[in-house]
Amino acid sequence: MALGTLLGALAAASAAGDEDVDVRALARVAAPPLGLPAVPVPADNPLTAAKVALGRKLFFDRRLSHNRTMSCAMCHIPEQGFTNNEVATPVGVRGRSLPRNAPTTYNVAYQRSMFHDARDTSLENQIFGPLLSPDEMANPSVGFLLETIAGAPDYAGLFEAAFGGPVDVIKLGQALASYQRTVLSGNSPFDRWHFGGESDAVPDAARRGYALFTGKAGCVACHALGERDALFTDHGLHNTGIGYVLVAGRAERKDAVKVELMPGVVVPMKLKRGSGGGARREKDLGRMGITDDPRDLYAFKTPSLRNVALTAPYMHDGSLRTLADVVRFYRDGGTPNPALDPLIRPLDLDDDEVAALVAFLESLTGDDVDELTADARSVAVGN
Ligand code: HEC
Ligand code: HEC
Repeated sequence: MALGTLLGALAAASAAGDEDVDVRALARVAAPPLGLPAVPVPADNPLTAAKVALGRKLFFDRRLSHNRTMSCAMCHIPEQGFTNNEVATPVGVRGRSLPRNAPTTYNVAYQRSMFHDARDTSLENQIFGPLLSPDEMANPSVGFLLETIAGAPDYAGLFEAAFGGPVDVIKLGQALASYQRTVLSGNSPFDRWHFGGESDAVPDAARRGYALFTGKAGCVACHALGERDALFTDHGLHNTGIGYVLVAGRAERKDAVKVELMPGVVVPMKLKRGSGGGARREKDLGRMGITDDPRDLYAFKTPSLRNVALTAPYMHDGSLRTLADVVRFYRDGGTPNPALDPLIRPLDLDDDEVAALVAFLESLTGDDVDELTADARSVAVGN
């Protein structure tokens, strides 16, 4: 989306006396916080204050789930880093544990693919996963959900005002995407030091950690950063070995079976019970579950590391509780397995260096997280 169009929307919103929270949201996208690149906005879904406000209302609305108990924000909790800090994997409307950790939706505008296995392509499209999945919001059909929204008096006129027509699947995705795209968080201590030249914005340990991150620890190969901005991801998928093993304490180990994935590649698969229902669940194959290509075995998307101090627990299954656990996992060379990414190997890091890497990761928390939470919660949801 051209910046001019966005600035036009911003000027119109201010002139129309739209809510400050919506004007602030558009302003963040027009001029992202230090350390963040320009926000990609699809040409067919230009941002406007009306769409952002509608998307925010929907994001917090429990009526979007079948039995009207669960909103998007109950798994992507603003006060908990837009994820859920309390559980490794969240629980959906029917009390079933999901197989994966909820990724944060901070800065999700920059994600080039959606979900840990990159199976969806855009924020506009991804919503049907949670809305229709029987384990998440469990709507029996798109039509059922559209009728719920169309019949709610507090939505009367809102889709018409934002899009010029009544609610449908496309507009629902566009509204939710518009809101999520404005939740940008940057200007962290790291940004002010590294990009802003403020020499005392971070402690010494964080600076040493950054040197390790970009130096002998080799993290930057996947958690990439640029000259003028940094998302700390290569937008790729890699096998760090997390998918290979069920970490003790995370889930019961169940009978291991040997499965031959391709000639010569035999992998022990541990089957585990889902915590609700008792159904057996297959091991999470990561990207291979989408492509069926054995080279993608246990490959998961490289997450951004921005605000990572706020988004515990970590990894696609939430199996690592603290940042120190994550750094020690890398120090020990991940979990060896037939398809381990060659960049993951044991690292020569002493305890001081582990602590320095953690201090660096802790310096990536944006300065606007309280404002983003307050703005998120500012809107009355009529449920
Ligand atoms: C029951 C918990 C739950 C609910 C409710 C939920 N999500 Fe999620 N969300 C998750 C989990 C878990 C994932 C990761 C799933 C995967 O990778 O397969 C996810 C992934 C995402 C992603 C992808 C982020 C990325 O970086 O890849 C976005 C965006 C998102 N959710 C937005 C939403 C929206 C919008 C709603 C409401 C319509 C919603 N979620 C409802 C748990 C939930
Ligand atoms: C080969 C690419 C690669 C390298 C090298 C790498 N990472 Fe990662 N990192 C990933 C992937 C992929 C994940 C997600 C794994 C998963 O979900 O199971 C991840 C996850 C993480 C997470 C958890 C984030 C979250 O939100 O759950 C942190 C923290 C992290 N890495 C830090 C580091 C540090 C520090 C280093 C260097 C010591 C490093 N990474 C090296 C690819 C890499």
